Amino acid sequence: MKTEQIPALIYALSADPLAAALAAELEAEIGQLERRNFPDGEHYLRLLTDCRDRRVIICCHLNQPNSKLLEVLFLAAAAREQGATRIGLITPYLPYMRQDKAFLDGEVITSRYFAQILSQALDWLVTVDPHLHRYHSLNEIYTLQTRVVEAAPAIAHWIQQQIKQPLLIGPDSESEQWVSRVAKLAGAPYQILQKTRHGDYDVEISTLDTARFSQHTPILVDDIVSSGGTMLTTLQQLGAQGLPRATCIAVHGLFADRAYTQLSKQADVITCNTVLHPSNQIDLHPALAQATRDLL
Ligand code: R5P
Repeated sequence: MKTEQIPALIYALSADPLAAALAAELEAEIGQLERRNFPDGEHYLRLLTDCRDRRVIICCHLNQPNSKLLEVLFLAAAAREQGATRIGLITPYLPYMRQDKAFLDGEVITSRYFAQILSQALDWLVTVDPHLHRYHSLNEIYTLQTRVVEAAPAIAHWIQQQIKQPLLIGPDSESEQWVSRVAKLAGAPYQILQKTRHGDYDVEISTLDTARFSQHTPILVDDIVSSGGTMLTTLQQLGAQGLPRATCIAVHGLFADRAYTQLSKQADVITCNTVLHPSNQIDLHPALAQATRDLL
């Protein structure tokens, strides 16, 4: 039987519904793995499903990536050694994209090195809306084959179903690429604010032009919520300007520390299922499966 006729094998590195949904959509088999840590924290991995002559998909949510990355690399190397024909990674959130420049002398541009590490280990990568700010495409730093899934259609659909008269708000210039696209697809107006970052938790956001939009529901849209500082400061700004309770939508909800608790006191918080979280309401598995099919 030709390799393409044998179902692809998905090794999932977290117990989550995404891998099962992708397997069903791609008619792939879920590979069995034994995973644990030695008492000192080092990883133990064993591939219980034979991957010889098979196309292998590693499915992993690479938020909090430092330890997970090692498992991906070990698994890819072992699958390669055991005879897998082609090995790819589905990570709906692609980490280490924000350090795309040395702002201070000596700063390490981690995005580049992370890209090199994954590119050496794998044949292809599928992800959702990577943080492309100073890079225009993943190809500037990744040398493996890539496919990028756009979350905007699913976010726009959610907004159309759930919100009457939305006004989309992007908290900073970087968010314009996502906000303008969602706004176009949802047929909604949008405004982009200006952000000045003073520290990890300390940001300043410009005021909104409310004159034309007093009857609208504010919907904050950003690619990432990390410390929550950007969204929280924007919400405070909107509150001070007398706007009604907002909805915050992020493609990737990383929610460091108390970010989600603080945000959900002030707004309805919705995310895509790129990082597993109770706020996941926008399902991207059909688009991820489609992108993966292209690469298999
Ligand atoms: C950065 O430019 C991103 O688009 C987000 O605005 C940022 O990562 C949000 O971070 P935080 O939640 O820590 O303010």
